[in-house]
Amino acid sequence: MNNPIRVFISRGIPTIGIDLLKKEGYQVELWAEDRPMTAGELMKAVKSTDILLSLGENKLDSDFLRENKHLKMISQFAVGYDNINIPEATRLGIPVGNTPDVLSEATADIAFGLMIAVSRKFFFNHKMIIEGGWGSFKPMAFLGQQLSGRTLGIYGLGAIGMVMAQRCRGAYNMNIIYCNRSSNEIAEQKFNAVRVSFEELLAQSDVLSVHSVLSEETRGKFNASAFAQMKSSSIFINTARGGIHNETDLLEALRNKTIWGAGLDVTNPEPMLKDNPLLSMENVAILPHIGSATVEARDGMSRLAAENIISYFKTGIIPHCVNPGALQ
Ligand code: GLV
Repeated sequence: MNNPIRVFISRGIPTIGIDLLKKEGYQVELWAEDRPMTAGELMKAVKSTDILLSLGENKLDSDFLRENKHLKMISQFAVGYDNINIPEATRLGIPVGNTPDVLSEATADIAFGLMIAVSRKFFFNHKMIIEGGWGSFKPMAFLGQQLSGRTLGIYGLGAIGMVMAQRCRGAYNMNIIYCNRSSNEIAEQKFNAVRVSFEELLAQSDVLSVHSVLSEETRGKFNASAFAQMKSSSIFINTARGGIHNETDLLEALRNKTIWGAGLDVTNPEPMLKDNPLLSMENVAILPHIGSATVEARDGMSRLAAENIISYFKTGIIPHCVNPGALQ
């Protein structure tokens, strides 16, 4: 290439994608510090690049996009893209790629793990030992719940929800119900999954696991009114986005025993502060947004983010494009 296409990567990512881009002749620049870029730093860095390889921590709102309409593409290192104003990117003709599928196993493992951790109070008991509180055997203390044969309700049955359904079906023979915009015939055939309304999902789930995107439709969806419709024995799991639940309402629902427990890999806001009362509750397990944090998933995300770019400039096609309208 005479004039190499410039890619700016806003955080250190696994080298597999960077190597692919370099091999194809792209000029790659990387934010080298081990902290997120500030809005000002990002704005400055993006001025002299053709492509931004972004992370979920970068807020690419309409002001940012209008200021940077020279961008030929945004390649997001994540499956979620709620940090990007997609309608504005589409209006400006900036295509956005993302990295689905490669992180589905890893993220479903976190949902599955949180479900078990909550049902048997893993985190609370672990903390109790660290604090020197392991006393005598108590026949009536720390009682959890069995998961076998229970009903798993999935809110947003996409690729990650499918793996969660498979895990729960295989390990605990759970009944699967789901609430989705469209029906999922594969899930219905493979897992006997039944599509239900949102109200039915709330009323029937023993474990309710959120796997949807964060959008205007889903923001704050799990609020006081939703928790009030759930079983008092139910467990709420969210590994998607913290904005989908109302955290004050969740805390109240747990305190009032409206629901039984909660497992979160995503919180609202992030990071969660260390004195958050949820952290000391017996039936709660919290993780710091590590759904995709396996070597395999992060390598896959790096590779896909690079392949989205390479394919676009070679063929005009982005294998995983979230706003195909921008390509027209
Ligand atoms: C992680 O949260 C992702 O969207 O990939």
